Amino acid sequence: MTETLTIRRPDDWHLHLRDGEMLKLVAPYTARQFKRAIVMPNLVPPVTTIAAAAAYRERIRAAVGPDSDFEPLMTAYLTDTIDPDEVAKGFEDGVFTACKLYPAGATTNSDSGVTDIRKIDAVLARMAEIGMPLLVHGEVVSADIDIFDREKVFLERILGPTLDRFPDLKVVLEHITTADSVEFVKAGGSKIAATITAHHLRIDRNDMLVGGIRPHMYCLPVAKRRQHKEALREIVTTGDPKFFLGTDSAPHERHAKESACGCAGIFSAPVALESYAETFEELDCLEKLEGFASEHGPRFYGLPLNEDTVTLERSGLDVPAAIDSGRADLTPFHAGERLSWRLRS
Ligand code: DOR
Ligand code: ZN
Repeated sequence: MTETLTIRRPDDWHLHLRDGEMLKLVAPYTARQFKRAIVMPNLVPPVTTIAAAAAYRERIRAAVGPDSDFEPLMTAYLTDTIDPDEVAKGFEDGVFTACKLYPAGATTNSDSGVTDIRKIDAVLARMAEIGMPLLVHGEVVSADIDIFDREKVFLERILGPTLDRFPDLKVVLEHITTADSVEFVKAGGSKIAATITAHHLRIDRNDMLVGGIRPHMYCLPVAKRRQHKEALREIVTTGDPKFFLGTDSAPHERHAKESACGCAGIFSAPVALESYAETFEELDCLEKLEGFASEHGPRFYGLPLNEDTVTLERSGLDVPAAIDSGRADLTPFHAGERLSWRLRS
């Protein structure tokens, strides 16, 4: 039985780091595991300008400290009125790596998001022209659509037609949760890929709702029925390069999760790689972890692969029930569980 597993150092292609005290608390967890991360721009106010992204990048660098070589890759938050020139200049200057599309109202801090995809046609055209990736929160927000169908309907109503209009646009469908998305991405051309979270590979809606409501399993897109989780698990076993790691680690204070109207988000950063390793081992495809975690993402983004490595050892990891530093009280993914693998420090 393998006792250690050494892989090329991974990157996290979808991450929420927040700001202020929360940023200081959570950023070191990611920097310990990953060389780079695509940092989501859904702050209050959202990151819509080059100046805001550059300043946020500095705060992230300060939060991980001078000894860390962690590299935050910044994103621009698309609004109905964002200036295509600002977006393009930010990409050309190396401040923005990608743009993030939040349909307005779809999730945390998405109120300033896009109300109608056609309103950003000029931005999308420009992005396609310069090869700037579009990162998509793929859910419709119409009140008449059941929350469990929002991702599937987004593919039909929004993403499919948008890709028809912009065939050269590079798109990452983020945090996919359905067999429909797996099929959509597989069937698409070379310009579309998807990220998969550690938690959507492990939980389905029963984990959230059976035996009591479990707010720490609540995220968006919400976990679906078991067959969808199985489709995600199946695709990672194939080593298909269109699918790669993106944790969507999204910390919220415990009181905001354990509330009458709890926030969406699972804080997986402290145990992300260990969680993926647990899943890949269960699926008997540990040899596919390196491609998924460390190679498919940079290749899709056209960025260099990391040269160094990390080592996981099978020494077991007892995940704390809480991470309460005084800065914030957080409940990590796998709280109170024992995982098989531990990332060597
Ligand atoms: O669960 C989620 N939390 N999904 C998102 O799309 C946003 C995120 C957050 O920022 O809390
Ligand atoms: Zn997210």
